[in-house]
Amino acid sequence: MLSGTVLAPAGALAVPPLGQQVMPPQDAPSTAPTSSLRSVYIVHCAGCHGRDAAGSTTGRVPDMRRMGRFLQVDGGRAFLVSVPGVLGAGLDDRQIADLTNWLLGSLALGSAPADAPPYTAAEVQVARRNAPVDVAAARRTLVQRALEQGLVIE
Ligand code: HEC
Repeated sequence: MLSGTVLAPAGALAVPPLGQQVMPPQDAPSTAPTSSLRSVYIVHCAGCHGRDAAGSTTGRVPDMRRMGRFLQVDGGRAFLVSVPGVLGAGLDDRQIADLTNWLLGSLALGSAPADAPPYTAAEVQVARRNAPVDVAAARRTLVQRALEQGLVIE
């Protein structure tokens, strides 16, 4: 049957005729971006890190919801803004600083020390110049350093 009435069995969800708009319920969850930084995150980062920043064990993408813990480790602050996913996104220093500040105040909320100053574009510029060559090794060193401070970074 290509057109006309679609007969649904009694009790099944009625299938609306083609071309007729289905209105979502008033309490449907919003999937629209709530801020432009969230949009930047969705476009450039969520593909690997997930919409909620939980990462992926199989993909070996770390959980970023606790990323603020790096701020308590010597070298961790620069590390967060010099990983390949960040530097390769085509964002400028200001955008990276803003995006990282947004992450720390949203998806990773509560993981950074309350008195940590926000990232600046100048700081990202310096981190970019000194980005680690072996990222995995740099991360292992920081995770170990954190452990010695009694801080667990998964
Ligand atoms: C292609 C997949 C991919 C994309 C895209 C990506 N990342 Fe990542 N990200 C990773 C992986 C894998 C790591 C672990 C370190 C490494 O090997 O690069 C990581 C590490 C990080 C870290 C350090 C946290 C930690 O626990 O190691 C931060 C912060 C981060 N990413 C932020 C971002 C942001 C912000 C974006 C978007 C601008 C982004 N990433 C895009 C895969 C990605």
